[in-house]
Amino acid sequence: MNTQPIGIFDSGIGGTSIFKEIHALLPYENSIYLADSKHAPYGNKSKQKIIELSVKNTEYLLSKDCKLIVVACNTATTNAISLLRATYTIPFIGIEPAIKPAALNTKTKAVGILATKGTLSSALFHQTTDLYSNGIKVIEQVGEGIVPLIENGKATSNEMKSLLTEHLKPMIDANIDYLVLGCTHYPYLMPLLLELLPKHVKIIDSGLAVAKQTKTILEQNQLLNLNNTTPQNLFYTNTNTTVLNDILNKKFKVDYLDF
Ligand code: DGL
Repeated sequence: MNTQPIGIFDSGIGGTSIFKEIHALLPYENSIYLADSKHAPYGNKSKQKIIELSVKNTEYLLSKDCKLIVVACNTATTNAISLLRATYTIPFIGIEPAIKPAALNTKTKAVGILATKGTLSSALFHQTTDLYSNGIKVIEQVGEGIVPLIENGKATSNEMKSLLTEHLKPMIDANIDYLVLGCTHYPYLMPLLLELLPKHVKIIDSGLAVAKQTKTILEQNQLLNLNNTTPQNLFYTNTNTTVLNDILNKKFKVDYLDF
């Protein structure tokens, strides 16, 4: 039994989509979530800068005695997780665009990937795509502008609708039947995606898979918290707390922290 918290970080509020899956699967685990919104978006930063920010977030979570860290950000995972794993001894769980299920199941032989520039240009993303994209058209689209709008509480705004219409057009023109969400902010686009995409397009998001992997790794390392008591789930942001509070439906404790 282990009551130490699970640490979770993202460039901002997007990783709450992962927290929600983890909390649903592991309702008794304590957790600490860091929303580095002051430095969002990570997606347009250099690999070096993404590593530096990921190390800073990790150091803070380790100082709070976290037993495992979930890198709830595709951009940070694809650019920094190998270094984090090589540097620290606790387990790290990451998230990457789920190309494999899309590539294996597509009937139209065309799949779309919406992700940040940092993710799409990473070596890890290219390795995975090369492995599964044989005979398939992969339409990669940088989700330019999406993260800042979500960080400002505009996930379902008209501004977002116009932006998404533009980003999705090349994929719809290529007749995709799968869209892979390659950024943890993007599940919050679901209402607009369902409105804008043709009905036959399936949307793939890796949130649940990350939660299942978190559970497996906790079990394997005997780190599960077996207490059936109400956990402490803490949230910290280094910008104002309103949007983070709203996205969590005001159900958790959200505080400002200067990190
Ligand atoms: N949630 C991050 C991701 O999954 C957002 C990236 C960003 O800050 O640009 O990639």
